[in-house]
Amino acid sequence: MNKKMDLAKRIIVALDVGSREEALPLIRQLEGVEIFKVGLKLFTAEGPSLLKEVKILRKKIFLDLKLHDIPNTVAEAVKVAVKHGAHMLTLHASGGREMMERAVDAAKKEAEKEGTDKPLLLAVTILTSLKDDQLQEIGMPADTSTQVLKLAKLAQEAGVDGVVCSPQEIEIIRKEIGKDLLVVVPGIRPSWAVAHDQKRIMTPSLAIQKGADYLVIGRPIIAAPSPQEAFLKILDELGDS
Ligand code: C5P
Repeated sequence: MNKKMDLAKRIIVALDVGSREEALPLIRQLEGVEIFKVGLKLFTAEGPSLLKEVKILRKKIFLDLKLHDIPNTVAEAVKVAVKHGAHMLTLHASGGREMMERAVDAAKKEAEKEGTDKPLLLAVTILTSLKDDQLQEIGMPADTSTQVLKLAKLAQEAGVDGVVCSPQEIEIIRKEIGKDLLVVVPGIRPSWAVAHDQKRIMTPSLAIQKGADYLVIGRPIIAAPSPQEAFLKILDELGDS
């Protein structure tokens, strides 16, 4: 039972819906899920009041806004996210060392001021939608995995808690950087689920075996006929592996 509870805490459900009316029943139904990801669509639609409602339901918020701006602007946005009680927060590693350092500092100071836990800051390295030729188009000469590793190391030096990366990059990050960085992976598909638009997918069990700390899962759970059953099925698979 304990093992299952531990595994359940490592599944983050992506609330990729457009309104509170769709989001809240999902949260209520998914009792065993501890962390819900609120991304650009839902946050733009509902704003901070939705975050308050998620907190009232005693769930943790992964605020996935992928911040990328001048250091001061990002630091100020991080402070507001701390006030809203975000448990996890994303920012782009390509925003640079100073931007990430200022974000880390702002998160620590604001959490102390508010008397809350500091949110975990997660750096997005290279968007998984970008391929090598598209990287070259925006002036990045290296291949994707070299670039991912470079940005992950920079993020760690800047004091960020973890990275968001594709399942294919878990091993290289663990090998080159070690265990001190949290690794959060989307693109997760149980064997019985359809891939949708995800190209480089991995099963939940394999991603955990390779060293992922958290799995971000959207459609295989939220678009299932019974989201709760789909979640429990994933948990069973993880428990058996
Ligand atoms: O529905 P699905 O399981 O594909 O959802 C995955 C979630 O992870 C979505 O919210 C998506 O935006 C997010 N994500 C991703 N790939 C990334 C970063 C985030 O799929 N590289």
